[in-house]
Amino acid sequence: MLDIKAALAKNARDVDVVLDRLLPARPDPESRLMEAVRYATLSGGKRIRPFLVMASSTLFGVSEQFAIRVAAAIEMVHCYSLIHDDLPAMDDDDLRRGLPTCHVKFDEATAILAGDALLARAFEVIADSQTHPDPRVRSDLVVELAKAAGGDGMVGGQMLDLLAAEVPLQIAEITRMQRMKTGALIAFSCEAGAVLGKAADSARHALHAYAHDLGLAFQIVDDLLDVEGNDEEVGKRTHKDQGAGKATFVSVLGVERARAQSDMLAQQAVQHLEIFPETADPLRALASFVVHRRN
Ligand code: IPE
Ligand code: IPE
Ligand code: MG
Ligand code: MG
Ligand code: MG
Repeated sequence: MLDIKAALAKNARDVDVVLDRLLPARPDPESRLMEAVRYATLSGGKRIRPFLVMASSTLFGVSEQFAIRVAAAIEMVHCYSLIHDDLPAMDDDDLRRGLPTCHVKFDEATAILAGDALLARAFEVIADSQTHPDPRVRSDLVVELAKAAGGDGMVGGQMLDLLAAEVPLQIAEITRMQRMKTGALIAFSCEAGAVLGKAADSARHALHAYAHDLGLAFQIVDDLLDVEGNDEEVGKRTHKDQGAGKATFVSVLGVERARAQSDMLAQQAVQHLEIFPETADPLRALASFVVHRRN
């Protein structure tokens, strides 16, 4: 049986080396910007999205040297989303990955700019010829990442998340919101291997279906951790979502049914991997990790 915690730890070390190289600190007059970028990016994190890129790439024999750059790029977009998510205008949080949030450590303007810089750098890395020799593969990745990060994806979902504090949402609308705000970047990560490996449509569809269920399970567990976890273990402020009027599976279904839903989704995610041999075991193990995680 695969040791998923060890595999995640190794993946985190590998991606950190590349992030460190792609986000160098420079002694220029604007060095504060990269200091904030590095603070928010090289500060822990489970690196689940990079793990998904590497694991999906393995299925199609993609060279690690290509996949790791896409893995680093998606983590940059994720870290940017967290910096902005924590801002006073959004969730107003002061703790992230066990440390002061970027705007607390630096200031709001620097945090906004650090997020902007990470987003732009992610696209620069993906579009660079070192990421894949075939320009069509690179442009496909650029288009898919733009869709996942933008108004029909993460950013659109964040808008819905904020609007939901004013207008109560039904479970179908919450599902759509979660699929956008969290699911879209996770789906990009799972499909990236298929794009890099020029996989058949059937394989790409299977990964899309896996990601669809995994992403929703992931956010339900995040919402459960807000209710059931503590700040120290989770590394962020807990017991906040209800007071902030967040619409979640937990707020509508309650803890027990939300937990059952996330377990069911994780099992369903694994079923979509049936067409793949044991090379997909890391993806199978991750689905179980996602629902049992404590942070
Ligand atoms: C937190 O994501 C934000 C959500 C989309 C729920 P993660 O739980 O992956 O955060 P890190 O990267 O491990 O800190
Ligand atoms: C954030 O969801 C999802 C993003 C797109 C960043 P949350 O607001 O629940 O994430 P946490 O709990 O702050 O990590
Ligand atoms: Mg939020
Ligand atoms: Mg938040
Ligand atoms: Mg949360």
